[in-house]
Amino acid sequence: MTKKLYLKTYGCQMNAYDSARMADVLAPLGYTLSQQPDDADLILLNTCHIREKAAEKVYSELGRMRHVQDAKTAKGERALLAVAGCVAQAEGEEILQRAPQVDVVVGPQTYHRLPELIAKAERSRPGRGILDTEFPVEDKFDHLPEERRPQGPSAYLSVQEGCDKFCTFCVVPYTRGAEVSRPVAEVLAEARGLVAAGSHEIVLLGQNVSAYHGEGPDGREWGLGRLIRALAEIEGVERIRYTTSHPKDMDDELLTAHRDVPQLMPFLHLPVQSGSDRVLKAMNRGHTADHYRRVIERVRELRPDIAVASDFIVGHPGERAEDHAETLRLAADIGFAHHFAFKYSPRPGTPAAMNTEDAVSDAVATERLHGLQQVLGEQGHAFNHRSVGMRLPVLFDGHGKRAGQLIGRSPYMQPVHVQAPDRLIGRTVEVEITEAHPNSLRGRVATATWEGVPAHDACGAGSPNVEERAPV
Ligand code: 5AD
Ligand code: SF4
Repeated sequence: MTKKLYLKTYGCQMNAYDSARMADVLAPLGYTLSQQPDDADLILLNTCHIREKAAEKVYSELGRMRHVQDAKTAKGERALLAVAGCVAQAEGEEILQRAPQVDVVVGPQTYHRLPELIAKAERSRPGRGILDTEFPVEDKFDHLPEERRPQGPSAYLSVQEGCDKFCTFCVVPYTRGAEVSRPVAEVLAEARGLVAAGSHEIVLLGQNVSAYHGEGPDGREWGLGRLIRALAEIEGVERIRYTTSHPKDMDDELLTAHRDVPQLMPFLHLPVQSGSDRVLKAMNRGHTADHYRRVIERVRELRPDIAVASDFIVGHPGERAEDHAETLRLAADIGFAHHFAFKYSPRPGTPAAMNTEDAVSDAVATERLHGLQQVLGEQGHAFNHRSVGMRLPVLFDGHGKRAGQLIGRSPYMQPVHVQAPDRLIGRTVEVEITEAHPNSLRGRVATATWEGVPAHDACGAGSPNVEERAPV
């Protein structure tokens, strides 16, 4: 019997990956994805806890979903409601208390058990929510279906999860648990499956992906650089990306992969958070601003055109005006192609949240955020402007907003809008860039031969309801 699954994803790429895997797990039970909740038999919210705003969204969404459930009940049917992801992990029991209509709460390390949890929930009365948020002894990857549903031209592949770094502001070590790397053979098998299902780009994911240290086929530990080199050997892998890295783990094997592996795209997302050594220390980042500068210098020597993106936090407890000035100086020195800048958000249970004495006022943090965004926004726009007149290979992965428009990515992760026929979706095509916008490019297909290019057969279904895209 087919059943409808409404799956909504908040937060980072890892959550998008988990959502895709939850859909894989539920497919054998007859669940197919639905674009709206009204006709769903199961509503699944995959949540994010990284900042307060993200976490609060869940409760307002749960309020909306109660009306959907009530409408179903009025028709004599039932819509089960499940909460997954990092809010589920962090707030478990509290969710069931604040939203008693929730049937299942499942953490990021136990969603392979969804079939049992759903079956149990179907048998129990509404209001008796089931909670499964332990960090289990079994590895979820051993229990997920080997086969992946088609993911479209670009596919996420989780290779490493969790974090042992304990930056003072961050909930990840508590919501995702200790750092674990998947074995090389398992990763390569999943990549082969994704390519067979029609993907051309593999995006390796991890909360600390550059700390990857999976067991290799030779019984030794392999780092990310070595994994990337092996991945590039798989036929059909046209593009490789990885995210998100930590400045402390950027070893030479990884950095030189940017020189040696043609499929490795010239884009590095390397969060720095602050340009002040004092704040970096308070954040427990384990590196200095100069270390960051040196990593970027080295990767630019190896791959001169590489685009560098970063995450920043302003208003961390204890951040003074002169610290913020250091952050602005670092931004000016490096020149970022893209950025994610956030106001510090105290997260329950983290060391930084205990430090209320040194709190930076919201007004000051807002002002700093705007100042930084101004500088980084101009840098991003300038980076995009430099692409005008260039010919860039663009991998088309979907439709743009305008009629007849496709959207794809340049090697530097820039979204590129082009008027082009649907059959170019899933192809990498030379595009002449004609316009630059703050966050995207526009261009026209430059290859004279593209008219003869056949369409790829398997692409399309990703995770449809993605609320926001933030870095891992
Ligand atoms: N407040 C603000 N931003 C945060 N991030 C992580 N935790 C917090 C927090 N408590 C940001 C960091 C990280 C990105 C994923 O989210 O910049 O790199
Ligand atoms: Fe780990 Fe990144 Fe969070 Fe630091 S910011 S604790 S490195 S996930």
